[in-house]
Amino acid sequence: MKIAIIGGGSAYTPGLIEGLVKIRHEVCWTEICLMDIDPEKLKIVGALTAKILRAVDPKIVVSATVDRVEAILGSSFILCQIRVGGLAGRVLDEKIPLRYDVIGQETVGPGGFAMALRTLPVMLDIARDIERHAPEAWLINYANPSGMVAALLAKHTKLKAISICDVPIGIQYFLADALKVNRGRVKLDYVGLNHLGWFRRVFVEGKDITPLIHQLVKTKDIISLLPTDDEKTVTETKMMLQLYNRLGVIPSPYLQYYYLKRECLAKQQEAEKTRGEVVQGIERVLLAHFTEVAAGDDAGLWKSRGGAWHSELMVNILSSIHNDKGEEYIVNVLSKSTVPGMAHDACVEVPCIVDSRGARPLPVEAPTLDMLGLMQVVAAYEALTIEAALEKNYRKALLALNLNPLVPSLDIAQQILDAYIAAHAGQIVLH
Ligand code: G6P
Ligand code: MN
Repeated sequence: MKIAIIGGGSAYTPGLIEGLVKIRHEVCWTEICLMDIDPEKLKIVGALTAKILRAVDPKIVVSATVDRVEAILGSSFILCQIRVGGLAGRVLDEKIPLRYDVIGQETVGPGGFAMALRTLPVMLDIARDIERHAPEAWLINYANPSGMVAALLAKHTKLKAISICDVPIGIQYFLADALKVNRGRVKLDYVGLNHLGWFRRVFVEGKDITPLIHQLVKTKDIISLLPTDDEKTVTETKMMLQLYNRLGVIPSPYLQYYYLKRECLAKQQEAEKTRGEVVQGIERVLLAHFTEVAAGDDAGLWKSRGGAWHSELMVNILSSIHNDKGEEYIVNVLSKSTVPGMAHDACVEVPCIVDSRGARPLPVEAPTLDMLGLMQVVAAYEALTIEAALEKNYRKALLALNLNPLVPSLDIAQQILDAYIAAHAGQIVLH
């Protein structure tokens, strides 16, 4: 069984490989192919991957290619983690809105909009290649904006696909650790869109223990129970817990950009670097480190990118599909009639059963009006952004950006859009 990783030159890849090795007793894959358009990163990450896997089982076939079709051909699973325009593109996405006193963020607000305009046409190209060369393969996508990618794949392709995000599983593990219960025993009642949702109730083995969480947050230093000391995760969790006290439900960390617009903007404007620039530094160090480990004697010395549950979720979902397990994961699907009040073709992030037929949403309780209002506006913004990206339609793009709750006026929307088109030379083309 062959598994392809599109965007294989990512610093996240060794972590993903480690996860794939962990599930080998239940998913007997024999071949890994890394594909990336950046030959330099592909060479570094490919060398480390080959070294790690040689130590696991010398019979595993490892290859690296810049040819997407070569990677797709013969694959049973295609894992996608592309970043169109690279981290340099992310930094532009983040910096340009700040000039207009608007939040600049990777996936939310104008930043996420620009990312979508660049990414969606490429995702569609990838999907067409898979339809043609490996129509039976599963595509598991982690590339952002994951919700819009999910909608695109569901509405415009015939692929067997799931689009995921590690925020919900991160919260699940955090709460399980804080409660000192096995991580798999905790289930969450969550509703929202990707990077915009609320954890309303917490269950352990089917029992609603939400009051215990309330108690824990009030009385204990719950931050010290976080399973990571990653700085970004710690800061975000503190903010979420503060909001929790006011909202009565646990918000996704990304809701800070909606609830605390001014505070977030002020923080970003004070910061010396954007998050993308910080990540550029992390990546530089990691790639040098990977090169060293690949040249050394001990493949086990590599350090991971950290701060994410990307690999864990990806391989669990892969195994749940392959082994028809029917496990529950929170992923992105078209709402159909799942979320009362949402358009049927809106892409929502909700608990789903994942088996060999893919992800099927479980019934959810209706969101409260405050949740629903924000979800509807952002879902409309997302739907219009997808149309604009596929049709390359300038007016639709402008109207979509203006609809985004982080954008104050049509005039500012237009200035930001024009600045993106100019800065992302050739990567955002609209007529
Ligand atoms: C989380 C989100 C991802 C996002 C990432 C950014 O893992 O689920 O969708 O891309 O954070 O993290 P970074 O470390 O790159 O800022
Ligand atoms: Mn995510």
